[in-house]
Amino acid sequence: MIRALRRLCLLALWLALPLHAADLVIDLGHGTKTYTTAQLLARSDARDVTIPADVAFKRAMRYRAVPLKALLDGASPGDTLQFVASDGFAAQISAALIVRAQGSQAWLAVEDPTHPWPTLDEIKGDAGPFYVVWTDPEAMKIGPEQWPFQLASIRRQPSVAERFPAILPDPALKADSPVQRGFVVFQHTCFACHTLNGQGDAKLGPDLNIPHSPTEYLREDLFRAYIRDPQALRHWPQARMPGFDRKALSDQDLDDLLTYLRHMAGRKVQP
Ligand code: HEC
Repeated sequence: MIRALRRLCLLALWLALPLHAADLVIDLGHGTKTYTTAQLLARSDARDVTIPADVAFKRAMRYRAVPLKALLDGASPGDTLQFVASDGFAAQISAALIVRAQGSQAWLAVEDPTHPWPTLDEIKGDAGPFYVVWTDPEAMKIGPEQWPFQLASIRRQPSVAERFPAILPDPALKADSPVQRGFVVFQHTCFACHTLNGQGDAKLGPDLNIPHSPTEYLREDLFRAYIRDPQALRHWPQARMPGFDRKALSDQDLDDLLTYLRHMAGRKVQP
């Protein structure tokens, strides 16, 4: 009886082990690489890293970890990386934060199946097999959503420029020109709901350049008032565009945004 029980326990342990020893998939756009727990733990650059205020465990933690930068050979600072957890959670992290490593440093903590980490809680379960932790997170204002645990894969996301070339301003313009600044504002504040030149994922609002740019048919003062409060221009109950106050969009941002939209009115692409 006891022996049978022991055998059952061993079986349960054996079944549980593969859950810990796992694979991490990294795809930076030129072929997929797979790292196993054993390979990562055996690397010469693996270190013991102390994290004084761990985001997932909410206390000091110590991990066996590999510098994340070393696993991202070929990623450029302009890339966005998607970190996907086994439960489907996906975090986007700018590659610049990891590869430039100015101040904060990202580490891939690797759970050793022979020394498992404590459980996070009953719902979240185990933080392993892989967890991105940061030393000196304050230096680069690393937020809690940039500590993905239960990590399964890291993939390079194609940039907006690659996916939607028709929304790009004239490439000859300097990065700090008002048009380029306005382009950044547009991507952050408008592009989630509006397409431009027919490109983008948004399906909510009308295209902001074709057939006509609002800068061509809206008087400038009314356009400005519209963005602050769409109901100030036309009023109807089911209108869905939100207003942007000065906290969400400074006067400078609004100036730059209009400069970008005017510039794009001269760069129409008919789909
Ligand atoms: C949350 C979604 C959302 C965001 C964000 C958004 N819009 Fe809109 N926008 C809409 C919708 C929906 C409409 C259609 C009218 C309505 O339902 O309010 C609209 C209408 C417009 C119109 C009027 C077009 C016309 O001729 O009637 C303009 C101009 C416009 N948006 C510009 C912008 C700009 C510029 C930004 C960024 C600062 C922006 N929108 C951000 C959803 C959005």
